Amino acid sequence: MCGIVGYLGSNGAYEILIQGLKRLEYRGYDSAGVALVTCDGSLNVHKARGKVANLEQTAAAGCTEGSLGIAHTRWATHGEPNDINAHPHVSQSGEIALVHNGTIENYSVLKEALTEHGYSFKSETDTEVLVQLIDYIKHTSSCTLVEAVREALLQVEGAYAVAVVEKGDPDTLVVARKSSPLVIGVGEGETFIASDATPIIGYTDKVIYLKDNEIAVIRRNEPLSIVSIDSNAPSEIDIQKLKLSLAQLEKGGYDTFMLKEIFEQPSTLRDCLRGRITDDCSRVVLSGVELNKERFLKAERITLCIRGTSWHAALIGKRLIQDFCQIPVEVEYASEFRYGNPVLNEKDIVISISQSGETADTLAAIQLAKEKGAFVYGVCNVVGASIPRATDSGTYIHVGPEIGVASTKAFTGQVTVLTLFALAVGQLRGAIDADTVREVATALKAMPEIIEETLKCDPEVQTLSRIFTYAHNFLYLGRGYNYPTALEGALKLKEISYIHAEGYPAAEMKHGPIALIDHEMPSVIIAPSDSLYDKIISNVQQVKSRGGAVVAIVSKGNTAMNDIADFCIEIPSVPECLTPLVASIPLQLLAYYIAVGKGKDVDQPRNLAKSVTVE
Ligand code: M6R
Repeated sequence: MCGIVGYLGSNGAYEILIQGLKRLEYRGYDSAGVALVTCDGSLNVHKARGKVANLEQTAAAGCTEGSLGIAHTRWATHGEPNDINAHPHVSQSGEIALVHNGTIENYSVLKEALTEHGYSFKSETDTEVLVQLIDYIKHTSSCTLVEAVREALLQVEGAYAVAVVEKGDPDTLVVARKSSPLVIGVGEGETFIASDATPIIGYTDKVIYLKDNEIAVIRRNEPLSIVSIDSNAPSEIDIQKLKLSLAQLEKGGYDTFMLKEIFEQPSTLRDCLRGRITDDCSRVVLSGVELNKERFLKAERITLCIRGTSWHAALIGKRLIQDFCQIPVEVEYASEFRYGNPVLNEKDIVISISQSGETADTLAAIQLAKEKGAFVYGVCNVVGASIPRATDSGTYIHVGPEIGVASTKAFTGQVTVLTLFALAVGQLRGAIDADTVREVATALKAMPEIIEETLKCDPEVQTLSRIFTYAHNFLYLGRGYNYPTALEGALKLKEISYIHAEGYPAAEMKHGPIALIDHEMPSVIIAPSDSLYDKIISNVQQVKSRGGAVVAIVSKGNTAMNDIADFCIEIPSVPECLTPLVASIPLQLLAYYIAVGKGKDVDQPRNLAKSVTVE
C-alpha cells in the first residue's frame, strides 16, 4: 500500500528510483513521483497520475539530475488519485520534500494548527501535513532537518515509513518508520532505501530492516546512524544478508507475473516442503512447533486471524487442525478480531497468516493477542517482514516474491504449511495415528509433481475461458475442505476480471442463491471424489435443472460427471484434505484466462494493492 524508494550515492539517482518504483508498483499504482536534489542543491520534483510509465513521460521534459532522490508510488487513501495528491509533497517554503507510506491519523488537528501559523495546503493528503509540520519546526526552532523530522514524528499519530530530503543539501537523506516497512540497502559508497528489498536487489545484498520508532540519517561519505525516535538514543545497526535474486523478480518468459507464479507452484511447493517431512514420511518437523512444545501441548484453542486470500487458507487450516489435532479452532478476520474484545489467555494460540507480512489489521491483531497472553504463531512469506518479527514463533512458506496482486502461489504455500502444522501439532499431542501421518505426508511430499500434472489442464481451461468471458456473474460451490477453495476461486475471478462472483458452501445454495441461477449464471462446482461427492452431485443436478451451466472440477477418471455437468476439468486424486491444493490450480487458470480475454491488467487490477498497510 504505497511504495517508497530513495537513493544517495555517486550515480544518477533518477534511473535507480524509476527502476525501484517499477518493482514496488504492486503496492499501488494510482500515481507516482520523484524528488531529486542536484549537486548544487536545487530541488526538482516530478509527479504524474497513474503508473510509473506516466511519470517517466512527465519527468522527461524536466531536470532529472542529482545523486540524491526519493520517490513514491501511491495507493490513494486521503484524496483522489491525481497529480496534486501525488507524492513527493513539498513544504510551503519549497525547501523540504517528503514521501510517505502509511496514514497520519491526527492530520486534521495538525492541519488546523499549521493553518493558524499561516500554512496553506495544496493537496487533500495527510502526508502534506507532515511535510509542513517538519518545515514549521525547522524554521521556528532553527534546527537541522533530522531534528525537525524527529520532533515532527513525535507529534504524529498513525503509521509511517517516510523519506525526506532538503533543498540545498545534496548530501543528506533522512528516513524513519513506525508500523510501515522500510529497508536500507548498504552499498559501496551508496545507500538505498525502500519499502521492501526488491528495489535494492542487484545493487547490494547487505540490508538493514529499520525497526519501529527508528530514524536513520544517511549522509554522503559518513557512516549511517540510527536512533530511536522517542529517546534519540543510538540503535544497534544489524546488517543482514539478502537472499533474493534478480531472476525471482522477472517474468521469466511469461506474459505476466501472475501466470509465472501459477506455473511456478511445483517448484515453490518443493521449496516450501524442503526438510520438513522425514525421508520415510513418518514425521513432520517444524522447528517453530518443536521449539515451543509446551505451548502446543497445553493449548485449548487455536484462533486463525487473517485477511483476504489468507482467510481462505485459514478456513482450510481450521479443518486440518480440527481433523488432526482435535483442538477447537476459530477463524477471524483480523479487522474484526482487533475490535471484537476477544477473550484470550495463555492457553490460546493465535495463528496469523500473511503473504506480505505487513497487513495492518493482522499486525494489530497480533499485538492484541500478545497483550492478552496468547502465543502467536506466524505463517508468512516475506522473510524479515513485520509480522514474522512480531510473532512468538512461526513457519515461512518460502514461495519466493509474489508480485501479481492476485495471490496464487502464496495461497498454495499457506495451505501446505497449515497442513504441515496440523500434522506436526497432531503428532505432538498424540491426536493423529501414524498411518494417517504417513498417508498425508507421502502425498504432500509428492505435491510438486502432482501440481505439475494438474497444470496440464492449462490448454483446456484456456479454451473453456472463452465461453465465459462475457458472463456478468459466477457462482462457485464447494463442500467440506473445498468450500474455502470455492471462496478463493470466486475471489480470484472478481479481483482480476471484475466479474461478480460468489463462493458458497454447495448445500447452502438451496437457501437463497439458487434464485439467481438461470442460463446466464454459470456455476463452478468443485466435486472431487471425496466423502461428500454424492452430496455435491445433487447440487450439480439442482443447478442444471434450473438452466445454469456447470463447470465441474472432478477427480481423474470420474466419467459419470460428464453426463451431468456441461464441462469437466480433471484433477489428480489425492487424500481429501489435500484436494484444495489441486483444485485451486484450474480455478486460478480460469480466472486468469477470463481476465486476459477481457483485456484486463491481471498483475495490477484496478483499485487494489498487494500489501494492505492501512486499515
Ligand atoms: O499479505 P497478506 O496475505 O496479509 O494479504 C492479505 C490480502 O490483502 C490478500 O490476500 C488479498 O486478498 C489478495 N489480493 C488476494 O489475491
